[in-house]
Amino acid sequence: MGGGVAFVGTADTGRVESPVTWKSYMMCAFAAFGGIFFGFDSGYISGVLAMDYFIHLFTGLPIPGPDASAAVKNAFVIPTPHKSLIVSILSAGTFFGAILAGDLADWFGRRTTVILGCIVYGIGCILQTASSGLGLLVAGRLIAGFGVGFVSAIIILYMSEIAPKKVRGAIVSGYQFAITIGLLLASCVDYATENRTDSGSYRIPMALQLLWALVLAGGLLWLPESPRYFVMKGQLEKAAHVLERLRDQPPGSELVQAELTEIIANHEYEMSVIPQSGYFSSWANCFRGSLTNPASNLRRTILGTSMQMMQQWTGINFIFYFGTTFFTALGTISNPFLISLITTLVNVCSTPISFWIIERFGRRTIMIWGALGMVVCEFIVAIIGVTDSSKPAISAMIAFICLYIFFFATTWGPGAWVVIGEVFPLPIRSRGVALSTASNWLWNCIITVITPYITSTAGGGVDLGPKIFFLWGSLCLLCLIYAYFLIPETKGLTLEQVDRMLEETTPMTSAKWVPHSTYAAEMGMTEKTVPHGVEHVEAGKEADSNV
Ligand code: BGC
Repeated sequence: MGGGVAFVGTADTGRVESPVTWKSYMMCAFAAFGGIFFGFDSGYISGVLAMDYFIHLFTGLPIPGPDASAAVKNAFVIPTPHKSLIVSILSAGTFFGAILAGDLADWFGRRTTVILGCIVYGIGCILQTASSGLGLLVAGRLIAGFGVGFVSAIIILYMSEIAPKKVRGAIVSGYQFAITIGLLLASCVDYATENRTDSGSYRIPMALQLLWALVLAGGLLWLPESPRYFVMKGQLEKAAHVLERLRDQPPGSELVQAELTEIIANHEYEMSVIPQSGYFSSWANCFRGSLTNPASNLRRTILGTSMQMMQQWTGINFIFYFGTTFFTALGTISNPFLISLITTLVNVCSTPISFWIIERFGRRTIMIWGALGMVVCEFIVAIIGVTDSSKPAISAMIAFICLYIFFFATTWGPGAWVVIGEVFPLPIRSRGVALSTASNWLWNCIITVITPYITSTAGGGVDLGPKIFFLWGSLCLLCLIYAYFLIPETKGLTLEQVDRMLEETTPMTSAKWVPHSTYAAEMGMTEKTVPHGVEHVEAGKEADSNV
């Protein structure tokens, strides 16, 4: 606790954040590396499941020679229930991992939880690499899933809390960029090892996952804990110290003090509105308030979880998980790897554009326009697909799919992550972000499980063929309506100002809101020392190692 330290706030809305240097930008941006886990793990498994050596080892079937009959070749696959178990168990682990991480991040700190996530993930990777049968592989993916859940939820929280407001959107978009690089790396590594006739074919991609864990955990050891976590814990001196490091300011900097006082005042205010009393009530707080009030905790939780659901409803993972199968089935495409390489490359190369537009035009604007762009592209793909099956028509479909990926990668891909990091008030932020991330994985899993049944007649399903793009197009239309009515504009505001903006506007009027007062002024903290009684949240729990 910050015994005896005077924190003097400001009534000037323009001074609620201290200036930053390049070093501080770099520190915040490093955490984005966590996205690599997400991308690599969701990407590498589909390639491994199709590898000859892997299928041979896990099914006991001999690898069919070049002269084998079509029936033998078709039967040489991982059985569907096993395939679905291997793929979806990761999402199950991630779902629960993300929710659990919400608690851990409040108990032990954001940075510690991510490092813990890396350790859990590492154990899962070792088990997967050691596996030569279903049991160990599934256990390894479940455990790795837990780790990915920790990392994917808490990195967003951590980055949003440490980033300077002017570049917070761009920095969190860096996380999405890392996801896309993870997906690309996964397809390249699979491509490089798929023809090996030894266990290196699947063990190399699995073992490589460890590297991401080592780099992230190693890097985070040098980064400071989130100052907002220390404020929650009432450890104000530590909060001041880490904020000075993050903003690269000298000890005792008045600018840092003003920023910190605003965070403290906002927290005091939130705590007076929603008192905390025990573990279950802290979860229940995420669902309190009125459905009609855009600032209520309930509405913010619905916003975060539904935004991640809508992000999955755009159909993006249909392209990344099933795109190659889809285009191979349409014929005329001889090299499925090439298509997946093109789609993942478009994803990687477009994402950096979001760094600029998310700060220039704002979250709300780009998500409205991005949804519109996706709707148009998906309906065009559907219409071409049902009317023409010539080679040029298929090339046109691929071109529009690339354009659709461009719209996703520059808007909804990063935007959904940026907004969930910004809309929750500090007392429920870790849980709110955790629930929203869990929603992403839940819908990711639901879509992955359902899609095979609407793209193939096997197992009693229906093959919608290119008509499936009417479905994705219609869902993107819902995203457009959703964005217009429900996504608030949060650009350029501190997290505390976002809190106030949500109280005073509706999503449709939010873009015009300008900060007009500070929490420090309202809570009477502009001239005097912050009272020492801020240790109301789980007081007594120390987190010394985090500074
Ligand atoms: C989504 C993932 C998707 C990826 C593609 C992420 O934002 O949550 O499900 O695979 O973007 O780049």
